[in-house]
Amino acid sequence: MRAILPTLSLLAAIGASGCDATPGRTDRAFSETGQTIAMSGGPGGAANACFTCHGLDGQGDGVAAPRLAGLDAGYLQKQMEDYASGLRQDALMTRVAKGLDPNGRRAVAAYYASLPVPAAAPVPVSPAPALYSRGDPARGVVACAACHGDRGQGAGDGGNPQIAGQPYAYTLEQLQRWKTGARRNDPRGVMAAAVRPLSDPEAREIALWLSRQPASPARASAVASGSASVDAAARPAASRETRRPDRSDGA
Ligand code: HEC
Ligand code: HEC
Repeated sequence: MRAILPTLSLLAAIGASGCDATPGRTDRAFSETGQTIAMSGGPGGAANACFTCHGLDGQGDGVAAPRLAGLDAGYLQKQMEDYASGLRQDALMTRVAKGLDPNGRRAVAAYYASLPVPAAAPVPVSPAPALYSRGDPARGVVACAACHGDRGQGAGDGGNPQIAGQPYAYTLEQLQRWKTGARRNDPRGVMAAAVRPLSDPEAREIALWLSRQPASPARASAVASGSASVDAAARPAASRETRRPDRSDGA
């Protein structure tokens, strides 16, 4: 366990004066900074308060705003940086991410990564679409499962994110954005290549199946050390041919 950063000790003291002195959670003060942003919107103001769209428990709105709770910290932070730099564009999230500085983006990402995965109503087990599990070499479709796991649970240090249990509409929208190039923050263009051969019905079938798979909790290591997996997530992005300004404000 590491000591709390001195610069954040004031916030830590405020938090510790309450009655829940939960032991075992590292970076408590940092997480509280993230919580403050989640509930208040930070410098961007109340219109940017994450909970208004992503839910009080980070569970998402079931349609357009995805679940954030329990996702990999590195993945979440990368998305915030990509929104801020314009590599990933969205009318709402671009504004929200630009309203925070890098520390705020990291803190709020770590906060959501640390939240428990909301319980979902059990759904009957259904086999994955064949394209998802095995791809179709004849048409150049790579198996989604190779990168995202056999049930969409994600794989490899958060670089290949968990995609199970997200709203159907959100997931379908992401697949379409990659197809049209509106979303292009995937390292080495892997997602653009993966979705290009998919027909619309195939994309819908996969998105629907994914939305019915149970969300799984982030791996303990990802929650405990957000910065380690942030570095891992940032590495492939830096090698993309689409250059983005190095640690600048993205202007
Ligand atoms: C006004 C509504 C709204 C607010 C406020 C908002 N979001 Fe979002 N968020 C969305 C929507 C809609 C999307 C999906 C955008 C897309 O398709 O790229 C999204 C997507 C995201 C994603 C991408 C998740 C993924 O799985 O790739 C992250 C991360 C995120 N939001 C974090 C935040 C944080 C942190 C805050 C607060 C600082 C916040 N959002 C505030 C609506 C909102
Ligand atoms: C070679 C690895 C690879 C393959 C194959 C692949 N993906 Fe991905 N996928 C990724 C990576 C990496 C990201 C994260 C990109 C980023 O940083 O935003 C991603 C992101 C996603 C997301 C966005 C998650 C979110 O929260 O916004 C969805 C949805 C998705 N993939 C679905 C699929 C589907 C469906 C297939 C099969 C048709 C597939 N992927 C095949 C690597 C892969």
